[in-house]
Order: sequence, then C-alpha cells, then structure tokens
Amino acid sequence: MTTRWQAENSADDSARYIERFDRLAERGVDLHGEARMVDAVVSPASSILDAGCGTGRLGVELARRGHRVTAVDLDPVLAEAARAHPELDVHVADLTTLDLGRTFDAAVAAGNVLVFMKPGTERTALQRIWAHLTDGGVFVTGFATDREYTVDMLDEDLAAVGFVLEHRFSTWDLRPWRTDADWAVTVARKPTLLV
Ligand SMILES: C[S@@+](CC[C@H](N)C(=O)[O-])C[C@H]1O[C@@H](n2cnc3c(N)ncnc32)[C@H](O)[C@@H]1O
Repeated sequence: MTTRWQAENSADDSARYIERFDRLAERGVDLHGEARMVDAVVSPASSILDAGCGTGRLGVELARRGHRVTAVDLDPVLAEAARAHPELDVHVADLTTLDLGRTFDAAVAAGNVLVFMKPGTERTALQRIWAHLTDGGVFVTGFATDREYTVDMLDEDLAAVGFVLEHRFSTWDLRPWRTDADWAVTVARKPTLLV
C-alpha cells in the first residue's frame, strides 16, 4: 500500500527529513510543543502509542517526561532513526492493519500523519488506533487544514469509529479553534463502557 507520505517522499527525502529535524534541534528550535500538550492531557507514567512516529522526536520527549512509548511507522528509514532511541519500543507497521496485541492509555498521531495516509484509509487507521486504546483512553492528532483529508472528514470518521470529540485547537499551545485556522489539533476519547 502506498501512503501519501511514500508517494511524496523517496528514501532520500526521508533521510533529508531526519537531517532537517536534527538541524532544527541543534539550533535550539522548540520541537516539543506536541509533547507538552500530550503530557498535559494524560496521567503521569502513561502508556502511549506514537502512531506515525517518524523520527521518534515526539515519543522521545514523552519518554523523557516519564511515559512509556511504543512508536509505529511504515517508513523504514524514519523507523530506523526512531530505533536509535532505546527508550522507544519501535515497530515498522502499517496503522491500517496494526495489531500489537495490547492497549495504551493514549495514542497520538502528530505532524500530519492522518493527511499523509493512503487516501480513504484514514477511518481504518482510526479503527486500529481505537482497538489499541483502553476504555477512556485519549487520542490526540494534529494536521494542516489545507490537505485533501479535512477536519470535517476527521469528525465523520471519529464519530463512525465511536470516538467522542472533546476539544479542538488551532495550535499545539492551545490557541482557540477557528474555521480558517491553518492547523487543527483534535482531542478525542474512547468512552468508558458503562456496565
Ligand atoms: C510528516 S511525518 C510525521 C512524523 C511524526 N509524527 C512527527 O510529528 O515528527 C508523517 C508520518 O506518517 C507516517 N504514515 C503515513 N501513513 C502511515 C501508515 N499507514 N502507517 C504508518 N505510518 C504512516 C509516514 O510514514 C510519516 O512518517
């Protein structure tokens, strides 16, 4: 299966992507806005699925903040970079068929993961993320709003899977959502089953 990421990026592009983030980190650019936000919505020492982890930059920061992070990506070049971080449990896997045989307190798909999936597979990936969450588990995702996969499509997919939409912001530092925002950060929850 070819994701939009694969269609738009060769292995060389993935290598350049890694270098770009390394350079940004060396220059002291703040790359941890997503981690700070996710850290704020989960309990201390949570288990977190970093879905579409890329280089693992977010997972590493979440691990540094005391969480146990399992990181998954389909791009072998990026997953190899993530493997350089022993604090991450890294899997090369497709989110649309993911079956790790366990659940997590939270899942995050940051940095445009959903808009880089193969078109039409986003709901399937959300179903697999749902299957990997404990009851009451939280899902956080952020992506650019100028892509083919839109916020409205996300809302439809989240509802179809069974997620409850809790919050939407226009930035990772929680600026209010506006329909003309160029970025959308969404918090959704797998409801706790009432017995
Ligand atoms: C722009 S990168 C973001 C990486 C990382 N989350 C970050 O914020 O640095 C998007 C990632 O989504 C991954 N991706 C897209 N479709 C996927 C799929 N079906 N299964 C696993 N990973 C996928 C790509 O391989 C790529 O690493």
